[in-house]
Amino acid sequence: MKRFCPKASFLLFIITLVLTSSVYSEAQSCRPSGRIEGKNAPPGQCNQENDSDCCVQEKMYTTYECSPAVSTYTKAYLTLNSFQNGGDGGGPSECDNQYHSDDTPVVALSTGWFNHESRCLKNITISANGKSVVAMVVDECDSTKGCDEEHDYQPPCPNNIVDASKAVWEALGVPQDQWGGLDITWSDA
Ligand SMILES: *[C@@H]1O[C@H](CO)[C@@H](O)[C@H](O)[C@H]1NC(C)=O
Ligand SMILES: *[C@@H]1O[C@H](CO)[C@@H](O)[C@H](O)[C@H]1NC(C)=O
Repeated sequence: MKRFCPKASFLLFIITLVLTSSVYSEAQSCRPSGRIEGKNAPPGQCNQENDSDCCVQEKMYTTYECSPAVSTYTKAYLTLNSFQNGGDGGGPSECDNQYHSDDTPVVALSTGWFNHESRCLKNITISANGKSVVAMVVDECDSTKGCDEEHDYQPPCPNNIVDASKAVWEALGVPQDQWGGLDITWSDA
């Protein structure tokens, strides 16, 4: 007859716990939080300079409250934004309520990475093209909302965006005619 062995069964219990929780966290990886329906911008709204997208009437847009896990090589998509007064970033930056010159390396991060302002005014290192640049996080690229006046009738941000000033694109040595969309990696600096 097999004797009940508390130590072994406890160990087995722990192993099972660890295995299921790692499988669980894998399955938990960032999923959409909802969808919103696009509305056409009123005349004169939604500035399409610098390739900004405008919401399309009745098109459905996916929203996210999370972003992919951050590592030392977090994959992301780099976009172009102006953080200057009158630029396509809208109002002043969320982190410091200030505008920032396009000649300073600053970025906005998708909601999940912005992480309730926890990266505000911290630096990240952005790498692409065999080059890297340190940029300061000053704003959020809202993945949870969009297609309204507050967001200049632009769609919600995807959850993997580093939205960067001109200075970042210059520092990465990207030719100007290719500014706007680039696969990059980033990490906390
Ligand atoms: C477009 O980008 C350029 C270069 O960053 C900037 O000077 C200009 O203000 C931007 N336009 C808008 C509407 O944001
Ligand atoms: C971020 O980088 C800038 C420019 O390199 C530097 O002046 C600033 O002190 C850095 N900020 C932090 C929080 O490390």
